[in-house]
Amino acid sequence: DDFEGRGVWRYNAALPFEEGVSLPEGATPLHEVPRLEADVGVETLRVKHEGMNPTGSFKDRGMTVGVRVAKELGVGRLACASTGNTSAALAAYGARGGMETLVLLPAGKVAAGKIAQASLHDARILEVDGNFDSCLDIVQDLAARGEAYLLNSLNPFRLEGQKTIGLEILEEFHEDYGTYPDRIVLPVGNAGNTSALYKAFRELVQSGALDADDVPKLTGVQAEGAAPMVEAIENGWDETRRWDEVETRATAIRIGNPVNAPKALPGIRETNGTAVAVSDEEITEAQRDLAGEGVGVEPASAASVAGLRKLRAEGVVDVDEQVVCLTTGHLLKDPDAAFEAGDDPEPVPNDTEAVLEHLAE
Ligand code: F0G
Repeated sequence: DDFEGRGVWRYNAALPFEEGVSLPEGATPLHEVPRLEADVGVETLRVKHEGMNPTGSFKDRGMTVGVRVAKELGVGRLACASTGNTSAALAAYGARGGMETLVLLPAGKVAAGKIAQASLHDARILEVDGNFDSCLDIVQDLAARGEAYLLNSLNPFRLEGQKTIGLEILEEFHEDYGTYPDRIVLPVGNAGNTSALYKAFRELVQSGALDADDVPKLTGVQAEGAAPMVEAIENGWDETRRWDEVETRATAIRIGNPVNAPKALPGIRETNGTAVAVSDEEITEAQRDLAGEGVGVEPASAASVAGLRKLRAEGVVDVDEQVVCLTTGHLLKDPDAAFEAGDDPEPVPNDTEAVLEHLAE
């Protein structure tokens, strides 16, 4: 079968339809990162770069399925709350499907590239004076009142599509090494992806395609300023506990009330994974490390590598492990963050001699 060509819908045996509203999505690269691998100090490190999807994040895998379902249902308006990437994906897939889209964003906390996408793909954009969790509360109310069809990760069809991240990782890793990765490290916000990967692995084990011992340890990484899942892994889950104040440079995962926690926490626990929080400085450093391998990611994505580095230093991750880090969004999603983390351009005169002089300085 054509592994590169078909992406998400190559796995339609695990999906609710044969095909979807597609751009197409999936079949993202599983990069080798030899310098970073040696520096972190694990046997194998590969980076699954989901930023290479059509709108630049893994959300496309969910939308190709979710928007197909919405079309099938004949709903009038698609809607989501978003820290940015979901809104960009929904706007594009809604446009592709010829449907109206509404997105609710936390005012001032969404990266420029993401708003630009939602805007050009013609979503109606509402900026809410509150954080992502408030936006999600409102859009859930709208959906309950029949005003819109909800396409956040509370929508189970979204997660069906996102299962294919796990399927692709296992298939390609096995092709290259004849084994499955010991661990998959991923950034966690609403914990939809963590739930989706866990569901993919459960289904593989149930169908007899994967040995239970071969299920990778799901390892979640959050920003220190928005780490309710880490707290839940350490102290147990409290339904009523949500972080009202959240802050991080990784705005994509600036979330205090992870709605998929009840599905994701068992995934982390039952695969013998863990969850860890990293600082914004550690995230920036990891973003530079990845960039140094030619892999351009947004801050939230770099959290996976920052988390791996931390867990390796603490000895939670062993030196002989084979690890896949998920990078969830492209560098160009958040150009401001990239400029902050990178070097400034140097102004020079319009003259070769002066340029040479400047270079020699
Ligand atoms: N990384 C990126 C780049 C994201 O955009 C998100 C979530 C995550 C990681 C976390 O994934 O929620 O499945 O745990 N972004 C959502 C959005 C919330 O609205 O774009 P999760």
